Amino acid sequence: IKSFLGDGDAEKGAFPHFMLKEIYEQPETLANAMRGRLDSDNATAHFGGLNLGAQQLRQIDRVVMTACGTSYHAALVGEYLFEEFARVPVEVEYASELRYRNPPMDRNTVVLALTQSGETADTLAALRESKRMGHTTLAICNAVGSSIARETDGGVYLHAGPEIGVASTKAFTSQVAVLAMLALYLGRTRHLSSTQGQRIIAELQALPDVIRKTLECHDQVKRVAAKYADAKNVLYLGRQYLYPVALEGALKLKEISYIHAEGYPAAEMKHGPIALVDESTPSVFLVPRGNVFDKVMSNMQEIKARGGPVIAIASPGDHEVAAVADDVIEIPDVPEYLQPIVTAIPLQLLAYEIALLCGCDVDKPRNLAKSVTVE
Ligand code: AGP
Repeated sequence: IKSFLGDGDAEKGAFPHFMLKEIYEQPETLANAMRGRLDSDNATAHFGGLNLGAQQLRQIDRVVMTACGTSYHAALVGEYLFEEFARVPVEVEYASELRYRNPPMDRNTVVLALTQSGETADTLAALRESKRMGHTTLAICNAVGSSIARETDGGVYLHAGPEIGVASTKAFTSQVAVLAMLALYLGRTRHLSSTQGQRIIAELQALPDVIRKTLECHDQVKRVAAKYADAKNVLYLGRQYLYPVALEGALKLKEISYIHAEGYPAAEMKHGPIALVDESTPSVFLVPRGNVFDKVMSNMQEIKARGGPVIAIASPGDHEVAAVADDVIEIPDVPEYLQPIVTAIPLQLLAYEIALLCGCDVDKPRNLAKSVTVE
């Protein structure tokens, strides 16, 4: 294992931790996820290992995505992507739940597993149960030749390189990028026009540079981390494409700083969780410009009115947000379906910087393993 992980220092290069190196690798890993898969001539995407013909693809009438942890959050983003671009109904299930449920699935249901390691016991078990029932099983996976990669009927590799930090970062953004390309691919076998396809391809191709620019928020994040590192509870709030990212941001903070954090759809606050809000409970709002911006703004004001500190992840120079939030971390504007990838970056950095201030072992947090190969 040591030889695989390599000599820590050499592998980490100039970075103090694998997690920080992997956060900063994301412009390259996103480029690697998309390399050779965007087909401008046909305004679609191509995957070498899906092993599904056009006929089979057209017949897919439901996708059940299954995963654990961060990969589950990527699958939740995939649900929005598939519904928007492919108009295919999607259900996302925790693998540990799916394996014991017996949901009604017809023959045109595809089970799609998301897994960085390809060895997660619950995800493997859910896939084996789906295969036993005769369903087509696919995987989006990072580890080449892993159990899940070998046992599914087809799939897509992330090409993100080994992810050593226990807290998943580059795998999450690459999973979302692959899901966006899959949604484009499915959509173009249905109703997406070549013009729409070309626009999506151009926006995906611009992403590595956008992420390079997003990483420039690191100094802002350090200032915010210093202010809130002693918080005992943190809320993460977002809507639509950013609801899964709220869950992901909370998981990042929990697993490496051991601070309790919860992600919610922003509108859910008034159904109970807002009772948690006081001056010692900061709320991180994902509030870049978009269709639900005004709604999220009013949720932010509700929290402020109750004395809760607000940290906003916002569009560049957004004065409306700056007038309400206590702290603002600016990120570049992108189309809403790409905001999950861009907003994940400051949340990864925020968890990293707070964990450092808490004196935690960022790469090997207590109680956790990189791959949960036992139930
Ligand atoms: C995420 O930061 C965690 N390390 C964990 O939740 C992880 O995402 C989960 O165990 C799933 O792992 P997999 O993607 O390798 O299946």
